[in-house]
Amino acid sequence: MTIRAIITGCGNYLPEKVLTNDDLAQMVDTSDEWITQRVGIRSRHIAAEGECTSDMGAAAATKALQAANIKPTEVDFLICATTTPDKTFPATGTQIQHKIGMAQGFAFDVQAVCSGFVYALAVANNFIQQGQGKTALVVGAETFSRIVDWNDRGTCVLFGDGAGAVVLQAEKGAGTVKDRGILSTHLYSDGRHSDILCTDGGASTTKTTGVVQMQGREVFRHATEKMAEVVEETLKEHNLGPEALDWFVPHQANSRIIQATAKRANFPMDKVIMTVERHGNTSAASIPLALAEAVDEGKIKQNQLVLLDALGGGLTWGSALIRW
Ligand code: ACO
Repeated sequence: MTIRAIITGCGNYLPEKVLTNDDLAQMVDTSDEWITQRVGIRSRHIAAEGECTSDMGAAAATKALQAANIKPTEVDFLICATTTPDKTFPATGTQIQHKIGMAQGFAFDVQAVCSGFVYALAVANNFIQQGQGKTALVVGAETFSRIVDWNDRGTCVLFGDGAGAVVLQAEKGAGTVKDRGILSTHLYSDGRHSDILCTDGGASTTKTTGVVQMQGREVFRHATEKMAEVVEETLKEHNLGPEALDWFVPHQANSRIIQATAKRANFPMDKVIMTVERHGNTSAASIPLALAEAVDEGKIKQNQLVLLDALGGGLTWGSALIRW
């Protein structure tokens, strides 16, 4: 017997304002054709003035609780994955806790940029398996529009805002790959590559947030290599071949990274959940946003095998294998 953390509800939130590639072409020297061909993004959502990360996280968390039929008062802990907190402190998770009407338990943030949701899920899974709580909310929420340089066409076309959330609940499993719930998580980081994707400021250096800086080709190379490597490791641990997988839900950075990773891993594209075209790269929010949509559309169903895979600044990367 083992304790498994099962995903019992998903929720999402996207700000109302949509920014298209044509809109961006009015702002910087770019075109719909360039953006669509290079990264597969057509539009992204942008937070309204005054709308912050915790507002979006709270909206997604509330929807996830409704889907799971759980009250905020029944949640033992909440973890928020974000790179764009409301403030340097307190943790955005505590603000989401307050906004959803959760006065018990504990909440905190995890910062692993675009891998943040996979990291937060791994932390929550470990807490649940150790008996530290039975019901958890894991939220990915980002307002990247506030940390991009809107004059830099190399980065501003890539990102969007939004939030996604899942409810995890403890259940007993037999300890096999047939159990429902999170079957394993695999996390990695390598700080030697911190310069290829970072901000040019921060609280203890410039006393500002800074804006996104990126060496696109290097990021592309590491993403396709490392995301495929961790997929291989995950399947191998469970003695599974690529055909065993029902759905591959990668971080939605860019359609060419997703296609290259799926090809290396031998996953046909009809098993890959893709939202990047409409969401852009929403960093830690991208995977839970994609999960919520795929569940709502009736794609991901109970007992199916789902693999999450991400890479982000740090570099950080990782995967989570889930029997839905
Ligand atoms: N519109 C038009 N032209 C542009 C734009 C734009 N938005 N951005 C850059 N260019 C130009 C460059 O200035 C350059 O022009 P030049 O040849 O006159 O100097 C030309 O396009 C080629 O630029 P490169 O940077 O060499 O283009 P590359 O082929 O490497 O493609 C891209 C850039 C699409 C960003 C690619 O490197 C990539 O996909 N990298 C991965 C980046 C990514 O997805 N980051 C997301 C965050 S990381 C994550 O979440 C995993």
